[in-house]
Amino acid sequence: MTVNETRPAQEWWRSAVVYQVYPRSFADSDGDGIGDVNGIRTKLPYLADLGVDAIWISPWYPSPLLDGGYDVSDYRGINPDFGTLEDADALIAEAHELGLRVLIDLVPNHCSWEHPWFKSALAAPPGSPERDRFWFRDGKGPEGSVPTTNWPAVFGGGAWQRVDDGQWYLHLFDISQPDWNWDNTDVIEEFDAILRFWFDHGVDGFRIDVADSMAKDAALPDVEIARDGQATHEKYVGHPTYDQPGVHVIHQRWRTVADEYAGTTEGPRVFVAEAWLSPADRLAQYVRPNELHSAFNFDALRCPWDAAELREVIDHTTEHLWAVGAPATWVLSNHDTIRHRTRYGRDQAHGGDPAGTVPSDLELGLRRARAAALLELALPGGAYIYQGDELGLPEVEDLPEEVLDDPTWERSGQTVRGRDGCRVPVPWSGTEPPYGFGPGTGQPWLPQPPNWAPLTAEAQATDPDSHLTLYKAALRIRREHPALGDGRLTWDEDAPAGVLSFTRDPGFRCVVNITGHPVDLPGHPDLLLSSQPLDNAKLPTDTTAWLRT
Ligand code: NOJ
Repeated sequence: MTVNETRPAQEWWRSAVVYQVYPRSFADSDGDGIGDVNGIRTKLPYLADLGVDAIWISPWYPSPLLDGGYDVSDYRGINPDFGTLEDADALIAEAHELGLRVLIDLVPNHCSWEHPWFKSALAAPPGSPERDRFWFRDGKGPEGSVPTTNWPAVFGGGAWQRVDDGQWYLHLFDISQPDWNWDNTDVIEEFDAILRFWFDHGVDGFRIDVADSMAKDAALPDVEIARDGQATHEKYVGHPTYDQPGVHVIHQRWRTVADEYAGTTEGPRVFVAEAWLSPADRLAQYVRPNELHSAFNFDALRCPWDAAELREVIDHTTEHLWAVGAPATWVLSNHDTIRHRTRYGRDQAHGGDPAGTVPSDLELGLRRARAAALLELALPGGAYIYQGDELGLPEVEDLPEEVLDDPTWERSGQTVRGRDGCRVPVPWSGTEPPYGFGPGTGQPWLPQPPNWAPLTAEAQATDPDSHLTLYKAALRIRREHPALGDGRLTWDEDAPAGVLSFTRDPGFRCVVNITGHPVDLPGHPDLLLSSQPLDNAKLPTDTTAWLRT
């Protein structure tokens, strides 16, 4: 009996393919250049046809958008630029009718400085209950002019901002994102209520933003800092703000809230953790049976296109997650990382040059992205697809400086361009910008490249060799094949160096060639799908084949 057969059908998330929608850049229904909820609704049939099981929508809440919506000013509403709560309700209902589950984003580490509770904290005196919901502290040194700790903020600069009365508040990210104090009962109860609010609106679950950092060491110790201003402190071992034991108490509490909904029509509600935790044994703590259901595996996303390194990541991940009964959750790109087509087009010897300092060979990158898609979708567990990955979009690395919107650009003193290059609006149709992103010719909030006409969903829909066609074929097979999704794999240990080859029961084999030359396929292959045509029955390099065994 396979693992699939032993799992209740309700545990859909163990096998699900989830499509990430970054709302600002997905589809614009009203022509203001900003994607919106009604835009997403128009594309639900496309997503159902693509063959995914669920969508995850990055934050859609009211927000000044100083960090793309990860700066929330009202957790129970919809950003007016994106639509209304009624639009969101309609989206959830329509998605469900099409068989798509809906996950949304919970941002519990911090809010926006426009959140009413932060505004009242600013207006209240030091030591007040209003300030206790955040991390307000006195500074050090003469007149408290030195920040409370030496912690760096993720987007650059220090993590403390001084306010008019001389106190400082903590912001691990942008200055506009004050950190919540999770030792405060108001905060704890408020987030329970936020979860229930959205579960009552029918959402199937949440992606938890920075799921590893809500709990802080209240002693507020300094960390070791290197000359470049970055913390040298081992990020996740004894660090005062990451992976503190207290985060697990929060996740266990949320799990009980989600489980209250197990008997409802929509079934159990689920969580996926965003936690850049490595090694996987630390990540596994987040997906123990009474905590979150799944967690992104970012080791795979960061892994170079190299067979030995990929094998190690896959083994390490599955070993630790399976030990606690959790599925692995694979992801190749998201709204925070360089698109993998571009990453894979660079020299892999140095981890694919994530900083993007040398030009990428985009043809090579596309070839590897095709092979990586078939690897990802063949691995045991769930998988996430970032919007536009199915179109093979590259990173846009030449955005003019004046349009850069990521807070990293300013906070780094205009030295780090940030994440806008993977957030360029999706090209849907037509031959020039805005490529059907919105109605008419109005231009989107980030400019699209002039050479994206062949990449539109429309252009690829009828091309049998397109990236989109490959994704659709793979997702169709994945849905129908009893070996795919949740389960186990067995490595073919006799595969040559540079080849990843594994079988899954019943009757499925995946072979990935990263040797640099064509290789023989195991005897009499019955080909289900391959990311490139075979070469005289051999598997070309940078190619994945799915075989019937
Ligand atoms: C992770 C999100 O994915 C990223 O976009 C955001 O900037 C930070 N968390 C802060 O919320």
